[in-house]
Order: sequence, then C-alpha cells, then structure tokens
Amino acid sequence: MYIIILGAPGAGKGTQAGILSREMNLPRIASGDLFRQALEKKSELGLLAKSYMEEGRLVPDEIAIRMVLERISLPDCVSGCLFDGFPRTLEQAEVLDKALAEQGKSIAKAIYIQVTKEEFLKRLSGRWLCRNCQTPYHLVTSPPKVQGKCDKCGGELYQRPDDNEETVRERLEVFFAQTAPILDYYRKQNKLIEVNGNLGIQEVAREVISVLRGEVSDNHKVS
Ligand code: AP5
Repeated sequence: MYIIILGAPGAGKGTQAGILSREMNLPRIASGDLFRQALEKKSELGLLAKSYMEEGRLVPDEIAIRMVLERISLPDCVSGCLFDGFPRTLEQAEVLDKALAEQGKSIAKAIYIQVTKEEFLKRLSGRWLCRNCQTPYHLVTSPPKVQGKCDKCGGELYQRPDDNEETVRERLEVFFAQTAPILDYYRKQNKLIEVNGNLGIQEVAREVISVLRGEVSDNHKVS
C-alpha cells in the first residue's frame, strides 16, 4: 500500500501523514525531513540541498529522487509507505511509478489536502516541530502540553528557518507552479482523492480515513 499525501506548504501533510502512519501501520517517508536530517549530519546530500531549502526552491529532481528511492529500498517499506512531500514534480512522479512498477508495485491513492491561501501563513508562522521525532505543533491549534517540549518523546521544539514569511511565499509560488500540475497526473490515473484541509486536524483526519476506508488491503485496514 503506497499512498501519497499532497498539499501546499502548511496544508497539513506531515500532520495527517503522522496520524495515518499510526492508523495504517505504515512508515512515513517525508522528503523534507530526510533533507533536514542530512543537513544536520552535514552530509554531502544535506549540504547540496541547503541553499535550495533556505530559498524555498525545490532541490533538483535527481537529488530528491535518489534520496527517496534509497529510503524506500529499506525493509520497512517493502509492503508500503506514506509519501509526504514527494513527488513534487512530474519527473519525480514518473520515476516513482517506474521504480515501483519494476517491483510489481504501484501507488494506490494520492490524497490532496486543499487549504485556502489565507490559512497557510497562519499555520506556518505558528508552527513548532520536535527536533527529535518531527511531530508538528501549533501555538494556537495544537500546542504541546509543556511549552517547548514534545508530548511524544520530550524532544526540544524548534521553528524551521524556512517558515519566515518571505520564504513561505516563495514556497507557495513554487508549489502552485511546479507541484500542482502533478494533481492532473494522478487524476488521469483515477487515483486522486481531494479532501478539505481547512477543517480542524481531527476532522481532516476523519475525512481522510473515511475516504480511504474500503480502498486498502486487509493488512493496512483503517479502523
Ligand atoms: P517540506 O518539509 O516537505 O515542507 P513543505 O512541503 O513546505 O510542507 P510543510 O512541512 O511546511 O507543511 P505540511 O503540509 O507538512 O504542514 P504541517 O503538517 O507541518 O519541504 C521543505 C523543503 O525541502 C522544500 O521547500 C524543498 O526545498 C525541499 N524538498 C522537500 N521535498 C522535496 C522534493 N520532493 N523535491 C524537491 N525538493 C524538496 O502543518 C503546518 C502547521 O499547521 C503545524 O503547526 C500544524 O500543527 C498545523 N496544522 C496542520 N493541520 C491543521 C489543521 N487541519 N488545522 C489547524 N492547524 C493545522
């Protein structure tokens, strides 16, 4: 069961992928997290990605594809995963389909979380993330129980450097210019599910789970 979570920056991809990952017992593969981890380790990949991320631009396809395909070749992804932030271009979508097809696998569904433009800035300016497990919090809509600490693992919370207003605007432009066209790619394959992401976190999760119900195999049945 390979599922893609699509949406503009701040739409709630990470939030919903985290909930679905627990519900469906599937690993969450977040390309942004993989880049940030590589950067923290100061690996060659992380240093290559750094300037693109800081400016809110997409990291070149070749690098993003190599990183994600390497990640999904690990044993925990053998029966499926949730893609969060990947693919982001037509090239990435086509290469992913090809790589899965070579193993007799395919994308089951692509879930597009739709949010109004006014909501993105609000969500990203109030976002805090766990440095350890990447769980997202929001100062207003989902604050941690103890300020500055992750409820799940006690890790330190931080704000992403690319969540400043100028970079968020650039990320949104990049999404609508370069990523939105892949919606049609999945629509044509009859795989696109569009959900209203303007509702509260739990309401969106209920909508996602309800549309997926009946679409998944017994191993990953959503309750
Ligand atoms: P990435 O890390 O993927 O960032 P993004 O796509 O910009 O998305 P975000 O993580 O900012 O938002 P989200 O949709 O996950 O929202 P969240 O759930 O946190 O990418 C970063 C950079 O890496 C890119 O700019 C690019 O440079 C590079 N990159 C990554 N992948 C790449 C690829 N494939 N190719 C090339 N380059 C790539 O929620 C946001 C906030 O809102 C949180 O505070 C949350 O608590 C709150 N919230 C969530 N849902 C709700 C709700 N329903 N109601 C109220 N609040 C909510």
